[in-house]
Amino acid sequence: MRTPFVAGNWKLNKTPDEAETLARCVVDAVSGVTDVDVAICPPFTALERVSSVVCCTGVGLGAQNMYWEAEGAFTGEVSAPMLLTCGCEYVILGHSERRQFFGETDDTVNRRLKAALSADLKPIVCIGESFDERQANVTEQVVETQTRGALDGISAEDAQGITLAYEPVWAIGTGLTATPEQAEAVHAFLRRVLAQIYDEDVAQGIRIQYGGSVKPDNAAELFQQDNIDGGLIGGASLEADDFAAIVKAAI
Ligand code: 13P
Repeated sequence: MRTPFVAGNWKLNKTPDEAETLARCVVDAVSGVTDVDVAICPPFTALERVSSVVCCTGVGLGAQNMYWEAEGAFTGEVSAPMLLTCGCEYVILGHSERRQFFGETDDTVNRRLKAALSADLKPIVCIGESFDERQANVTEQVVETQTRGALDGISAEDAQGITLAYEPVWAIGTGLTATPEQAEAVHAFLRRVLAQIYDEDVAQGIRIQYGGSVKPDNAAELFQQDNIDGGLIGGASLEADDFAAIVKAAI
């Protein structure tokens, strides 16, 4: 059985002070919740402060990106060892906003993924089709290419520590959620792709989150689907009560 996993992606929001306050509220709001893994992913500048709040609470800490080199002349980048020193356990990789606005490709996601795994960070790898791609009926091709590209050269053993996050780009921040049936169809397809790359056992062990306008009122229906193992939450993760309600919907 896969333990559901709900993570909050705070994106470009919250100063360190605001992040510390929100993290305290999240910790309070989800205290006592068991059988769901929970993480919050603030901006880099708030990681250390949030780490001191979530430490030993059962709420994990994640970053929103990282570079594949450990150190060197790479202005503006942050590495896996640096994230570890800030208390990170998780890192989001290949978010569609990184692909859209910052030139991420399947190849650079793959390099980041390898570096994250070697550093023992737990990666959340994002994939998802655009509106035009869904309209053109190429969703499966797109997410398969992204998945195979990200996982290229990753062993079965390492793959089991990865979470995939299916985030249809057209559903992110738009209020247009994929229906539970639409999301489940893609998740089930992704699990078949994972079984082809590895084997059925490995595929059954990998968690696949859904992301894209998940809110307290639609989370339960999504999370009840067989192949949806929790969510990657944007906007609603900035309100502790909403985020906690979504976490509870995954139990
Ligand atoms: P929203 O929940 O705001 O649609 O964002 C989803 C997302 O991009 C999480 O990574």
